[in-house]
Amino acid sequence: MLVALGVTGGIGAYKAVEVARGLQKRGHEVVAVMTHAATKFVGAVTFEAITRRPVITDQWDPGANADIEHISLASSIDLLLIAPATANVIGKLANGIADDFLTTLYTATRAPVLVAPAMNSQMFSHEAVRRNLDRLAADGVRFVEPGEGYLACGWVGKGRLAEPDEICAAAEALLRPGTTLAGIRVLVTAGPTLEDLDPVRFIGNRSSGRMGFAVADEATRRGALVTLVAGPTSAPAPAVHELVRVRGAEAMHAAVMQHAATADIVVMAAAVADYTPTVVAGQKVAKADGDLTLVLKRTPDILKALGQRRAASGGPAVLVGFAAETEDVVASARRKLERKQVDLIVANDVSRADAGFDVDTNAVTLVSQGGAEDVPLQSKARIAAVILDRAEQLLLVRRAAPPTPDPLKV
Ligand code: PMT
Repeated sequence: MLVALGVTGGIGAYKAVEVARGLQKRGHEVVAVMTHAATKFVGAVTFEAITRRPVITDQWDPGANADIEHISLASSIDLLLIAPATANVIGKLANGIADDFLTTLYTATRAPVLVAPAMNSQMFSHEAVRRNLDRLAADGVRFVEPGEGYLACGWVGKGRLAEPDEICAAAEALLRPGTTLAGIRVLVTAGPTLEDLDPVRFIGNRSSGRMGFAVADEATRRGALVTLVAGPTSAPAPAVHELVRVRGAEAMHAAVMQHAATADIVVMAAAVADYTPTVVAGQKVAKADGDLTLVLKRTPDILKALGQRRAASGGPAVLVGFAAETEDVVASARRKLERKQVDLIVANDVSRADAGFDVDTNAVTLVSQGGAEDVPLQSKARIAAVILDRAEQLLLVRRAAPPTPDPLKV
């Protein structure tokens, strides 16, 4: 497949050489498109030698207009990858400014676009840059988040270009969407659990199943063998390898513990009840004068049990949980990440009307040991794709260095 590798003027430009090699190793052709500023950091000859193709550095290069090159390249590439992407170029892309070859190529192509930002941490968190990133995400652009650590400018924070392997993995996910999870077993939970009080009444919640279903659907599209454990949902379930319907939290616990034993990735999007009635009446409870007191007991915390089992005796390489919160969203998600021993928490601010329960859109923050990444409001299908991009990256890391089970942990 043909990848246009856009290189812009940041110190991370030298890493783009490794990205070009990594893409080639995966069997792709690369054509490098450098901005003028990028050539101040790395010579075009370096990319030419690696890619064995002429490097485009100027809209006005002789020959660049013989077949209106930005248009012909735009229609022949399978992916436009920009790494590193500076704040300046991100701003131009977000606002449709096409004043050089790269930004013109962006507006002309209909290929998927993957952007790996890299800049000073203060710049990365600036409102203007956040706004531009949000706008690009809403336009369908995908991102490889920058890393945290020591930056070339001497600061410590988030802004360093992601590692070449991570960028190549994200590119691969877009280039071969049907194959990146081929042979991988993914277990997804979705929907509410309903806790029966008597034969006609229950305690439930507003989960429709849509978020978990979007994850299951996207994983299937990527070639995974998906087992979907779903509560009683109002939305229809997608076609998956195996669908297991359950009603209450106890049944979901049993199904998940059984199927997680062979899963590589588990994504717990279900809204599992934390409490269930201590007794389920055999007959419809008749009304009487006065109040009715219900006594509830805790349900098993399924995600925590998975985290504990993995720490003690191994298990799914990647554990992803959700967190539905109405306040201190990210702080609560961080606590859940630690307490449940999982790799990623998808934090949902469910106080928003356009996100969380029973709507088609969501806005989340992905919380991991590496930091927190905001994923702005978009369709649940797109949110699912971002979650699986991250899960795939975690899977690669885990496969390279599997965790050693701790015999002292239970
Ligand atoms: O289904 P939709 O209408 O599309 O709505 C999507 C959603 C809002 C349900 C979804 O995005 C979401 O946030 N799901 C998690 C809801 C939830 O139960 O959050 P929590 O913070 O209570 O639980 C934290 C994590 O522990 C979750 O992964 C949950 O699945 C898991 N859990 C919770 C309780 C329990 N007894 N066992 C668990 O495993």
